[in-house]
Amino acid sequence: MNRFEMIMEGLHAEPKTWLITGAAGFIGSNLLEFLLRLDQRVVGLDNFSTGKKDNLNEVRESVPEQQWQRFRFIEGDIREIDTCHVVCRGVDVVLHEAALGSVPRSIEDPVSSNASNVTGFLNMLVAARDANVQRFVYAASSSTYGDHPGLPKKEELIGKPLSPYAVTKYVNELYADVFARTYGMETIGLRYFNVFGPRQDPEGAYAAVIPRWIRALIIGEAVYINGNGETSRDFCFIDNVIQMNLLAATAQNPDAVNQVYNTAVNARTTLIELFDKLQSRLLPHFSHLLGCKPVYRDFRAGDVLHSQADIGKAAGLLGYAPTHTIDAGLDASLAWYMANLSPVKG
Ligand SMILES: NC(=O)c1ccc[n+]([C@@H]2O[C@H](COP(=O)([O-])OP(=O)(O)OC[C@H]3O[C@@H](n4cnc5c(N)ncnc54)[C@H](O)[C@@H]3O)[C@@H](O)[C@H]2O)c1
Repeated sequence: MNRFEMIMEGLHAEPKTWLITGAAGFIGSNLLEFLLRLDQRVVGLDNFSTGKKDNLNEVRESVPEQQWQRFRFIEGDIREIDTCHVVCRGVDVVLHEAALGSVPRSIEDPVSSNASNVTGFLNMLVAARDANVQRFVYAASSSTYGDHPGLPKKEELIGKPLSPYAVTKYVNELYADVFARTYGMETIGLRYFNVFGPRQDPEGAYAAVIPRWIRALIIGEAVYINGNGETSRDFCFIDNVIQMNLLAATAQNPDAVNQVYNTAVNARTTLIELFDKLQSRLLPHFSHLLGCKPVYRDFRAGDVLHSQADIGKAAGLLGYAPTHTIDAGLDASLAWYMANLSPVKG
């Protein structure tokens, strides 16, 4: 039995009370589903700014009613400290996912990103401290590597942030570190690298590349590649992220706590390769994709060219072993998009 399997067994035998902020979002709703299936008690908070009631409804439909009854949802905003205090009451572990994602969104509206990602984050830390929460695990970001050219990315070597979003996520790490030193809190930051999977929003100007492209391919719209297509990412399937959250939430080794960890696979896929992977998987279902080619346009401000994580720290200190490559993750994701998006007519 590996560490993750032992943790699941332990949690099943002795359930905890978890708070998931951003529970109606992509990552939050997947964490929720996983924890409910493990018979955990879960409190969820979300203001539905980018999250959806449909995501919560889907979780409800996918778990037995008895497990759903262990979930309490509060519609509210982490920018309100009183709300943060209310939701932290009686909680053992916080999984803090609520934030405004997207680099371009933060470039267009840095004030809103700062309010949710920095003020909201600080409110959550204060509330978790006051409620004596045992562990505060939070969504950090690979954007913190900024302009540092090194590959693969190692946690201790970061550059200058390239966007307001990256600043907010780095500030999260700084605050978490200070709260650990000043108030003795136990925090762990997970630097997510391009997470993907079912329920990731394919709609809107700020959609991430995988759901955006799947949508465009299915409904017959153009797929745009920003740059020359050689830009590469360490795409990380949601199950790997869930594993990291549970490993971080339960780590007992003092050296493993009050750290940040890359959360990825340690692989690199270019945008051209990604396009080919998606097109070849969807082609058997959608004949309009025969001969379909991407459209190239300018690089996007704030984007880094290459990203790949060293996952040695997470493997060594947390026992992390990713279960899904990008290929396995895409195979596990596409059915959801095909069921949720209407294809082109004719
Ligand atoms: N998806 C990725 O590739 C990725 C990469 C790096 C970091 N992250 C981080 O992971 C976390 C989850 O991202 P996601 O991809 O699930 O995005 P998401 O937009 O689907 O989920 C974020 C959730 O937070 C909620 N939220 C936002 N502001 C809030 C506020 N002020 N009060 C209460 N709720 C609020 C939204 O409504 C949404 O449900 C975020 O912190 C994001 O920055 C994601």
